[in-house]
Amino acid sequence: MNLLRFIFKQIFIVIFLLHFTNAFKLKAQALTYHQNTKSIIDKHCVSCHQPGGNAPFSLQNYTEVKNRGTFIKYVINQHIMPPWKADQHYRQYANARILSDEEKKVLIQWIDEGMKVGEPNPKKLIIKNKEKKADLVIKMPRPLTIPATLQNSYFCYKIPYEISQDTFVSSVTFVAGNKTLVHHASYQVLGVSDDVNPFDGPYYFKYDEDTLNRVNDSADYRYLNLIGKSGVMPIEYYHNGWLPGTTEQKYPEGIGFFMPKKGVILIRNLHYAPTAIEQTDQSSFEFKFMQFPPERFIGFAAFKPANKQPDGRWIIKANDSNFKAVIHVKFHQDVSVLNINPHMHRLGKTFLCYAITPEKDTIKLVKINRWDHNWQEFYRFTHMVKIPAGSVLHAEAIYDNSEQNAENPNHPPKDVRFEWGMNDDSEMMRLVLLYLPYEINDEYISLE
Ligand code: HEC
Repeated sequence: MNLLRFIFKQIFIVIFLLHFTNAFKLKAQALTYHQNTKSIIDKHCVSCHQPGGNAPFSLQNYTEVKNRGTFIKYVINQHIMPPWKADQHYRQYANARILSDEEKKVLIQWIDEGMKVGEPNPKKLIIKNKEKKADLVIKMPRPLTIPATLQNSYFCYKIPYEISQDTFVSSVTFVAGNKTLVHHASYQVLGVSDDVNPFDGPYYFKYDEDTLNRVNDSADYRYLNLIGKSGVMPIEYYHNGWLPGTTEQKYPEGIGFFMPKKGVILIRNLHYAPTAIEQTDQSSFEFKFMQFPPERFIGFAAFKPANKQPDGRWIIKANDSNFKAVIHVKFHQDVSVLNINPHMHRLGKTFLCYAITPEKDTIKLVKINRWDHNWQEFYRFTHMVKIPAGSVLHAEAIYDNSEQNAENPNHPPKDVRFEWGMNDDSEMMRLVLLYLPYEINDEYISLE
């Protein structure tokens, strides 16, 4: 009897232990939305995936994420989302949108385990840093109508402004009005000569097959009434770009740019996604001023390929899947580079840019293995990058004007003019750098 009791007791203990360890195991393994994945999605996805955001659906709560579970696993595995086109093994950037290996693992395990919801975290007390508000908001004066053409549309839009005095700016934020349609904006702050009233003349034009507006700054400036009577051209004080997901552009202490009291913000290329119904957009810019003039002013350089065609006509032939354009520039002073922005249109295939120093060292700058014209980033380096005097900058852009290029606007492919326009019917190559004259120890200044 005692023996039987003993055996039962043992069995009971074993069952109990088995049960307990099993439960323990489960508890240790089963990931839940609230404990494990919500924070990752919030950090890496929700900036675009929210109502009124640029992505086609929201990922703000459990149900929304769960409904797309298998699709999310696919886009993560295929490196489709978050969208980030630069080769991160070539060079890393401060504004990179990438999931760490650990974050990716957690998301995929959670999806594979059937997407448990878990207990919501007790509401954390969120102490927000009191961010300084914008000193100046400049809005497109009138809503712009985007036609229902079911095609990408590209505009050039000037926003004139006049403030009480010249000032200095440390931060700029572009705020898209129509967040689902604004796809990309590259903009400049331009000063105009005294005899120009920037509020006069047309405010915008659309890049179309037959407008006067080619890649020709002076024709655009003249049309928008930005050139003085004596032929004085506007002066560029700032140049940057915006894509969905881009936030405030601010610079390390003491670095900024001059903003004249009278001028325009010229959105040189304002790209809207195709739409089936007519819509409007009224985007704006927010500026924060500096208390003291900057110790250092940001400079801009935009490079284009040397045009070797004697008649000025440069064509990417239909079905040419390997058209190549290059930029070579020699640096005559030491510079510190902050951002780099490669630009092509829809025939773009790959883009590579590096500098070779006089000692024959290679400074890697950017490499894009599969160009996507929807994500034209202003890549911000993690630290300033020193390029010593005497270095040569090399950039190489390859274009695919064949049927294999799914982005090709022409089916069947046709000859396309190169360095001609800003539209889908033309191609171009630009490389924009934001830089400062080098100062000692710049390479240790973080841009994170
Ligand atoms: C910078 C903006 C942005 C971020 C950040 C972003 N997405 Fe997206 N996502 C988009 C846009 C825009 C689309 C629509 C398809 C396109 O244009 O590529 C999209 C589409 C998708 C799709 C559908 C794919 C398809 O082919 O239609 C999934 C799934 C997705 N995103 C999941 C995610 C997840 C998960 C994250 C975070 C890990 C994320 N996205 C981060 C902008 C973003």
